[in-house]
Parts: sequence; C-alpha cells; structure tokens
Amino acid sequence: MIYPVVVYGHPVLRKVAKDIDSDYEKLDELIESMWETMYKADGIGLAAPQIGKPIRLFVIDGDALKEEFPELSGLKKVFINAQIKLLESKEEFLSEGCLSLPTIREDVKRPSKIRISYQDENFDAVEEEYDGFAARVIQHEYDHIEGKLFVDYLSPLKKRLLKSKLNKIAKGEVNIGYRFQTAK
Ligand code: NI
Repeated sequence: MIYPVVVYGHPVLRKVAKDIDSDYEKLDELIESMWETMYKADGIGLAAPQIGKPIRLFVIDGDALKEEFPELSGLKKVFINAQIKLLESKEEFLSEGCLSLPTIREDVKRPSKIRISYQDENFDAVEEEYDGFAARVIQHEYDHIEGKLFVDYLSPLKKRLLKSKLNKIAKGEVNIGYRFQTAK
C-alpha cells in the first residue's frame, strides 16, 4: 500500500518515536508498504513517522545513487529500534533533500562516521559501522525517528530565508510527484 508522505508542519515528524517489538501488528506489511511508498516517491530512505507512525523503524535503499556514492552500492536495509553513536570523524557539508521537505535542498554538516545498533526485519540484533554518504543517509533517517529534520541544522539566516518555502509546504502549496499529507 502506498501511503501519502507526511510533510513539514505535521506534529508526527517532531515526536521521538517509540521502540517496537516483534509482536507489532502486521509489521511485514508495513515494511512492504514503506518500500513501495519510498520507491514511488523516488526516495532512497523513508522513516515510519513520514507515513504517520511514530515508531523506530526506517528503510534505506541507496543503490540508485551508487554511481555517485559507491559506498551506497547494495545498501538495502530495514532498521528497527536503532540507536546511533557518532564516531570521532571529520564533519562534512553535503547537499540533502527529504521527502517531507519537498522542493528544499541544502548543505548539511554531519560527522562522516557512525556506529549503529539496531534490529533487522527478523529482529536479529545488528551492530555496524558506516562512513561516507552511507553514514549520512542513515543519520538523516535516524533523525526522523528522533523527531528531527535536516533544516534544524541550518544557520539562523538560512532558516529565515527558507521560512516562506516551509510555510508553503506546511500548507500543501507544492507541486510534487507523490501523494502527501499536511497537518491540516
Ligand atoms: Ni527525510
């Protein structure tokens, strides 16, 4: 099932999402729907709050960007109950977009290395380290389950410049190629 993508201004995007366990109802279907919704919108990642569910679940398939970022090649994973540790590393500015912030792209500063512990779709515990753009995509999705958006990292000046664009998104005054949902 393809869900409408919740956009900026909706309170679900600002909640710290809750852990789930393997009894979570129809989790397989939900994960399948998240893939469908993400691909339909040409995204490389989608977090459950972006379809209105404040739970600690996100999916990433970075394969579409492997030419530009080889570290994304074959990175297709489901992350449940993730916790991230930022590792000592240099911080880099790189351009990001987000399905919940359509029409906005900005350079965001992030550390280039992380360690993440999570459960996969079978609820097996996993601990991994990532760097480069893979670490960035994971941090971006992880932020969604922490109630954060990439615009939070921008300078006060940049935020001011984006204000009218953000207001338009919140009111649904954007023309994009996928179904979306505002706070109303
Ligand atoms: Ni996003």
